[in-house]
Amino acid sequence: MLIDQRATRPHIFLSAFDMHCVVHQNPGMWRYPGDQTHNYKDIEYWIELARVLEQGGFDALFIADVLGFYDVYGGNRDAALRTAAQAPVGDPLMTIAAMSAATTHLSFGATVSLTYELPYKFAKTMTTLDHLTKGRVAWNIVTSYQQSAAVNLGLDTQIAHDERYNMADEFMEVCYKLWEGSWEDDAVRRDVETGLYTDPSKVHDIRHAGKYYKVPGAHLCEPSPQRTPFLFQAGASARGRKFAARHAEAVFLIGTNPKDTRTVVDQYRMLAAEQGRDPRSLKIIIMLTPIVAETDAAAQEKLALIKSRAQVDAALALWGGWTGIDLSGADPDKPLDQFQGDGIRAFSDMLTRVDSELVWTPRRLAEWLCVGGMSASCVGSPRTIVDHLEEWLDVADVDGFNIARVTNYGTFEDFRDLITPELRRRGLIPEDRPARPQTARERVYGQSRLRDDHPGAAFKVGAAQASARRSAGPVTLRTSPRNVGLLVTLKAKPETKEQLETWLHDMQQFAEDEAGTITWYAFQIDDLTYGIYDTFLSHEGREDHIHGQIVKSLRTLQHEMLESPPDIRPLDLLSVKSFAPGH
Ligand SMILES: Cc1cc2nc3c(=O)[nH]c(=O)nc-3n(C[C@H](O)[C@H](O)[C@H](O)COP(=O)(O)O)c2cc1C
Repeated sequence: MLIDQRATRPHIFLSAFDMHCVVHQNPGMWRYPGDQTHNYKDIEYWIELARVLEQGGFDALFIADVLGFYDVYGGNRDAALRTAAQAPVGDPLMTIAAMSAATTHLSFGATVSLTYELPYKFAKTMTTLDHLTKGRVAWNIVTSYQQSAAVNLGLDTQIAHDERYNMADEFMEVCYKLWEGSWEDDAVRRDVETGLYTDPSKVHDIRHAGKYYKVPGAHLCEPSPQRTPFLFQAGASARGRKFAARHAEAVFLIGTNPKDTRTVVDQYRMLAAEQGRDPRSLKIIIMLTPIVAETDAAAQEKLALIKSRAQVDAALALWGGWTGIDLSGADPDKPLDQFQGDGIRAFSDMLTRVDSELVWTPRRLAEWLCVGGMSASCVGSPRTIVDHLEEWLDVADVDGFNIARVTNYGTFEDFRDLITPELRRRGLIPEDRPARPQTARERVYGQSRLRDDHPGAAFKVGAAQASARRSAGPVTLRTSPRNVGLLVTLKAKPETKEQLETWLHDMQQFAEDEAGTITWYAFQIDDLTYGIYDTFLSHEGREDHIHGQIVKSLRTLQHEMLESPPDIRPLDLLSVKSFAPGH
């Protein structure tokens, strides 16, 4: 595939994926010998988990959540209840303060669906948690996908998919105004002599009146270490990806194999660049379920035991909730590609990419889902597993892994004891944590506050006066003369695909040889479409730079090499930084 910028590999982002319930992505595993997930109700269970993750060098615990039962399978919730498939389920926020008190470095990403929240109140909850965790809180922004949630939260039916994301954009704008723009840094004075605790002139109303939300007043909380919590997102639809590319600092993906996932990763980076963000600053985290043991053979034995405890009903109940496809009553051995419907064909195609040799049937699907849900999985010794992780880094260009549990206790202890030492040995995670605890964002970007190229930064105090009424539409960052660039989209003809790839490699050579180049990425968007994201040092050099070369060269080549004229857009970025080693 195309071009990998990274000469030396930075540290990966390591997240653990869990949920306040028994069965998360692991249907049937509560029956595995020694499993303790029924203790999810105890605070000690969570404190112990947080300690294990910190010992294992994890950056974050990502806690999923849903607001309704999985009731698509069979048209009711019975299978989900019988098998504990994400039900019963508790709240993801409640355990975080206690876990943070028991750890120093681990961050906590909680899933909260903004579709059923009000931004004014939600902003208060997250600021409180950011204070209590000393800046170690993250928010996984979801818009919800369950009808069973909508009807119990006062709606007749779900709000339409894209409309939920439109609401979400405005919800984010209100939150940014409250978190970033309402209180000045020095608003709290605590001046014992004069009796002034907070200076009222430094606390501002946000005066938000939009299509969905009206918040005239000020944030109720004083600024917390990060102000805006570190932002996770996992939208997979076209609208969801656009939302993620705009707001997310880390995107969580599911993908079946590194090669196919690369296309999706490149699309996210391209979309981020379109929003005026450094595409490398968007951390892409792939979900993975490792089954590890001292040797490959022992790991295979473990896998056999896991499979023997799998519950097919639980797997298909989860599958129904995720995809809307009800496989109850279907012949368990009928090939999936013989079922009717676009939805099922899309998933059948996806499964063919997992294993093209296998004839996928409902039974095989359920067996596959029992090991980590829809995540990719890998089985073997620590060396085998980490070789596999490196393949993901190289081929898919992801920045880290979201490790789903099969059992608790089990998965994360095994990871800590077997995989973490191998990751450290290969320099993929640091040997030690810094002496001073860092906030969630600081660990990733080296700073606690939003980066300047993130849209929320436009609402920072100072920036706030000028932009208080700025809409949630794409922000055009004003240029600083130091950083300018190009975003190019090119469509090849089927017969010129290879020629275009060669041309892109040649152009990369130009870019690398040129002193003014800051970043150069060329990537594939779909089968015949390619993108270039190129930033360079100054306006003056614009014509001489590779930019000039690209334009000149394209003028000559476009008729023979491209299906349609190239789309060349200038980029004016406020700042572009390369990805610093160690995040
Ligand atoms: C790794 C991962 C974790 C997710 N966790 C949750 C979750 O906890 N709760 C939820 O409602 N949706 C979750 N989702 C679903 C998405 O965030 C998103 O809401 C859903 O895919 C619908 O949006 P879309 O149509 O843009 O994909 C998750 C998705 C992925 C890939």
